[in-house]
Amino acid sequence: MSELQPSLAESGADVKGMFNRVARRYDAANRVMSGGIDIVWRRKAIARLLQDLGDTPRVLDLGAGTLDGAIEIARQAPGAEVAAADFAREMLRRGRRKIPRRAHVATHAADGHQLPYRRDVFDAAFSAFCVRNLADLKQGLSELRRVVHPAGRVVILEFLRPEKPRFFFDRIWNARVLPAIGRLITGDRAAYRYLPESIARFRSAPEFAELMREVGFLNVDTEPLFPSGVATMVVAS
Ligand SMILES: C[S@@+](CC[C@H](N)C(=O)[O-])C[C@H]1O[C@@H](n2cnc3c(N)ncnc32)[C@H](O)[C@@H]1O
Repeated sequence: MSELQPSLAESGADVKGMFNRVARRYDAANRVMSGGIDIVWRRKAIARLLQDLGDTPRVLDLGAGTLDGAIEIARQAPGAEVAAADFAREMLRRGRRKIPRRAHVATHAADGHQLPYRRDVFDAAFSAFCVRNLADLKQGLSELRRVVHPAGRVVILEFLRPEKPRFFFDRIWNARVLPAIGRLITGDRAAYRYLPESIARFRSAPEFAELMREVGFLNVDTEPLFPSGVATMVVAS
């Protein structure tokens, strides 16, 4: 295993304040920066999450942000009860306006390190682009293991550290283009410089899978997503 650097949150970065600050322009920045591919990633990951779960699953979305994932879960499984948890209240507040009338999505201001839910209460949990921000990743993943039923499934979307730096995505796109676009749209340069820095400090796919096993997931798969494995889907049960 490589020498892991502490995450930025572990080193004291104010992740909650940062997301509260960019909440107003978060969706716009996301769409421009990903060219809409984040929507495709969420759809695919959520289809996998819900596979064979029945019509009325109880599903957690951890780090739900402005609720794109939680709303997609409710769209794909209209009978699902979705709990959308995030510690940045402003992100949830922005997201609540987008919840369709018939969707069962409840928002909870909660920290992923200490979730306010009973053991085994969810049939499945989803988390998109959140776990890289945790100050204590092992604790956050253990919380996911605790609240999801042993027969349940967890699907995580994340930008894992590439094993070999990719010239275009790491040196040009993430390091230069994204911070510039993020600054233009949100006015917050620091928040979008945080992105490449946090990826560089994060775990690679094998390291991440190993940690998932350490916290008690027996089956862990990692699937690099188009294009160039820039994002990874982790499926664990
Ligand atoms: C990059 S955003 C992703 C939002 C959403 N999942 C999406 O796909 O657009 C990361 C989210 O994780 C949340 N987050 C980060 N650390 C967290 C923690 N310790 N507890 C709860 N939420 C956290 C942030 O507030 C933010 O809303």
